[in-house]
Amino acid sequence: MMVLGIDVGTGGTRALLIDEHGCVVCSATSEHAPILCSRPGWAEQEPADWWRAALEAIRTCIAKSGTNPREILGVGLSGQMHGMVLLDANGEVLRPSIIWCDQRTEEQAKAITARVGADELIHLTANPALTNFTLTKLWWVRQHESEVWRQIRSLLLPKDYVRFRLTGAKATDVADASGTLLLDVARRQWSQAMLEISDIDASILPQLFESQEITGKISVEAAKLTGLLQGTPVIAGAGDQAAGAIGMGIVQPGSVNAIIGSSGVVFAATDAPCIDPKGRLHTFCHAIPNRWHVMGVTQAAGLSLHWFRSQFGTISSNGSNQYESLIKEASGIPAGAEGLLWAPYLLGERTPHLDPEARGALFGLTVRHTRGHIIRAILEGVAFSLRDTLTILGELNIPARSIRLGGGGARAPLWRQIQADIYGMPVDLLEAEEGAAFGAALLASVGTGIWPDVDAACKTAVRVAERIKPDAKTVSLLDRQYAVYQKLYPALRQISHEVHALQIQEVADYQVESAAPIRSA
Ligand code: XUL
Repeated sequence: MMVLGIDVGTGGTRALLIDEHGCVVCSATSEHAPILCSRPGWAEQEPADWWRAALEAIRTCIAKSGTNPREILGVGLSGQMHGMVLLDANGEVLRPSIIWCDQRTEEQAKAITARVGADELIHLTANPALTNFTLTKLWWVRQHESEVWRQIRSLLLPKDYVRFRLTGAKATDVADASGTLLLDVARRQWSQAMLEISDIDASILPQLFESQEITGKISVEAAKLTGLLQGTPVIAGAGDQAAGAIGMGIVQPGSVNAIIGSSGVVFAATDAPCIDPKGRLHTFCHAIPNRWHVMGVTQAAGLSLHWFRSQFGTISSNGSNQYESLIKEASGIPAGAEGLLWAPYLLGERTPHLDPEARGALFGLTVRHTRGHIIRAILEGVAFSLRDTLTILGELNIPARSIRLGGGGARAPLWRQIQADIYGMPVDLLEAEEGAAFGAALLASVGTGIWPDVDAACKTAVRVAERIKPDAKTVSLLDRQYAVYQKLYPALRQISHEVHALQIQEVADYQVESAAPIRSA
C-alpha cells in the first residue's frame, strides 16, 4: 500500500511515493520554466507549466518505482502559497499566475488596509494586508486589467489548479486559504465580511476542506495522462509551509522548526489562533483540525548565500560543492565575524519589519575583513533574522520547547552550529527531511485511513537523528552581536526607502535611455 504526495513548488514540482510505514519509496522532480519577471518586482508563472511538470513528475515517479497504480491508495497535494490562478467560465486560465514573491501590489495592500482598517483586518483575517497575499493581487487585476476581471469565474491557488486538472474539483484547504486574506482564520471559513468589503463574488472561491479530507477523484482523462488509476481519491493537502511542518513532525504546541531554504521560516504549532497585534507573524490554520500555527518569514535566507555565490563565488562544475567550499572558507573565522553584520533584506522583508522597501546591508567592514568573514556574517545574519521571529514568539508567550532544523541551512554543520548558538537552545536534525511533498503524502495516508490522525502518522514516520547543543561562550558573544544587529534596520530604514526610490528612478531612466537609439533608428 502506498500514497503519493505532490508539491507544486516555485522551482519545480515533486512527486513522492511513501509506503504504509511512512518510508519514502521513490521521488521525481520536474523543473518549472524560469519565473517571468517582466518588470522589477514582478513574478509570474504559467499554470499550464505546473500541470506539465506535475504530469512528468508523477509519471516518472510511478515508472521509476515500478509501482502498480492499484497499490496507490490516494494522492495528497501541497504547493507554493498565495499565488493567484484565474479561470473563465470554461475553466481556461485567464492570465499568468501572479505568485507569492511578486511585489507589485504595495498600493493595493495599502488601499485594503485603508478600507478595512488595520485592526479590523487583523480581527477578520488574523493578518495584515501584505503584497504577498492573494487578495492584493486580485485588487491589482481589477484596477489594471478590466477585461480579465470581467471574465473571472474561479480563483484557485497554485496546487489547486493541479487538483482541478486531476479531478475537475475546484477545492482548497484551510491552511493554504489562510494566505489569501479572504479566510476567517479563527473560524476556518471564508470571511463574508472580507468578500463584501472587497466587493468580490463568493461564487469564485473554491470549496474549503480540512487538509486530510477527500476533495475529488482522479478523472478518466487525468488517469490516462498520469498513469494513476481512475477514481483514486485526492485529499485536500496544504500550503507548502504547513505540509512541510507536518513532514517534520511540527504538530503539537511547543514544537517549532527553523527552515533555511531560499526564504527562511520559523513555524510554531499552536492549539488556538495566536495573533500578533502588530501583524509581524502570519497566523494561519494548521493542516490539522482545530490547530493553527504562526510563522515568521525571512524573504532572502538561503538566497543571501545564493546571491553571494552567484556574484562572487569561485567557478566550479558542481553547484552544491560551491556552497560547501564557501562555507569552508567561513569555518576558520571566529564567531561574530569580528563585528561584521549582514542584514539580509535583498527582497525587502516580511518578519519583523513588514517592509517591501527594506534593503540589504553588509556593515562594519574594515581592512581586516576577508571573504571568509563576509560569508560567516551572511550565515549569522540569516540566523539573526530567524531569531527575530523567535523573539516575537517569546513576546507573545508562544512556547518553543525544541527547534527542528530544515532546508539547506540544516545540511551544513557550521550553519547548524551557528543556529544553535544564535537561537541559544539545542536544535534537532531529522533522520530524513523530505519537504512538503512528504507532508502531503502523510496527509494522504491519514485521509485514506492508513493512520487515524496526523499525530499518529508523525510519531512513526518522523525521527530525530541528532541534537546539536549551543556553546555557552559563543551564545553570550552572539547575544551581544544580536543586540547590535537589531539596531541596523531602524538605523537604515529611511536610507533604504530613499535608495529604493533611486533604484526605481534609475531603472526607468535606463529603460528610456536604452530604448532611445532604437526609437531614433
Ligand atoms: C509562505 C510563502 C512561501 C511560499 C513559497 O508564506 O510565501 O513559503 O509558499 O514557497
